[in-house]
Amino acid sequence: MSATNSPYDPVEVADLSAEAVQGAVDTALAAVAAAQDLDQLKAARIAHAGDRSPLALANREIGALPPHAKADAGKRVGQARAAVRSAIEARQHELEAERDARVLVEEAVDVTLPYDRRSRGARHPLTTMHERIADVFVAMGWDVAEGPEIEAEWINFDALNIGPDHPARTMQDTFFVGSETSGVVLRTHTSPVQIRTLLDRPLPVYVACPGRVYRTDEIDATHSPVFHQVEGLVVDEGITVAHLKGTLDHFAREMFGPATKTRWRPSYFPFTEPSLEFDVWFEAAKGGPRWIEWGGCGMVNPRVLAAAGVDSERYTGFAFGIGIDRTLMFSRDVTDMRDMFEGDVRFTALFGAEL
Ligand code: DAH
Repeated sequence: MSATNSPYDPVEVADLSAEAVQGAVDTALAAVAAAQDLDQLKAARIAHAGDRSPLALANREIGALPPHAKADAGKRVGQARAAVRSAIEARQHELEAERDARVLVEEAVDVTLPYDRRSRGARHPLTTMHERIADVFVAMGWDVAEGPEIEAEWINFDALNIGPDHPARTMQDTFFVGSETSGVVLRTHTSPVQIRTLLDRPLPVYVACPGRVYRTDEIDATHSPVFHQVEGLVVDEGITVAHLKGTLDHFAREMFGPATKTRWRPSYFPFTEPSLEFDVWFEAAKGGPRWIEWGGCGMVNPRVLAAAGVDSERYTGFAFGIGIDRTLMFSRDVTDMRDMFEGDVRFTALFGAEL
């Protein structure tokens, strides 16, 4: 073939010479082998096997050859192109396998690693219960008042008409700060806030006083030396038992729903006269519907008004006290009081992340 001078001889068409074809194949194979990732291989495919690659262009020349030369040139170019294609395909498989192996390592998730996202805390249900209660009274235009937990014995007892011989005033029931004669106690109820309110504020007063109180009880499922109460006090002109009952009925319905019933029983407290205890009819999830003792109340004893310097001829009032912990227990089926004080987040989380 090298001897012929025919213009149609494939040797004469530069792109179709054996060297040119082999050269194109060598360049293509080198580029394919050099491709380090699938993007580089794609570029090599376009350059060496694409429509405008040297071998594709050479292939196009074949059509112009005389019939006797077509077969030879067609075979050589066809083999050359097939060699390049199969090299590309092989390299494609290699690179894909490499990429898959790398992704498996780089994007691996170790499911045994410790959980690093902090769980969201929840406010303590007693705190949210305090606030719900305060909201009911604030909505009626009342103030929220607080007093000290370390209280003068006179305010905690005497001013509330609890005389020196009252059984509550012994170390059996009351934590004295210092000795039993120090005159200072940890308040045993929120009622002393009644006295402080009357001493501090101008009349009339409408206050709710939630807070922590202390008694010498041993800790068990239903007792704790620290617990919570909310006190209510109204002193104004013309206040009657009807105001007391209407207020507490409203309070009960706000807390437990519009159909809540209340029941009133005569009782005795030194600081109220007359005194009552009140129960709510509660549709407990466990144990079925029943009457629950909810709190004590009554008309403020004129002796209490006098102790705080209030003219009991002109003013009358009512007061009440309820246990917040008890309320949480019966309304939310808490059976062990200790759960409320141990600070285990698994308990608080049950009530949801209330804000
Ligand atoms: N202070 C009482 C106690 O701790 C509860 C109480 C009863 C408060 C009657 C009141 C009331 O204001 O009127 O047991």
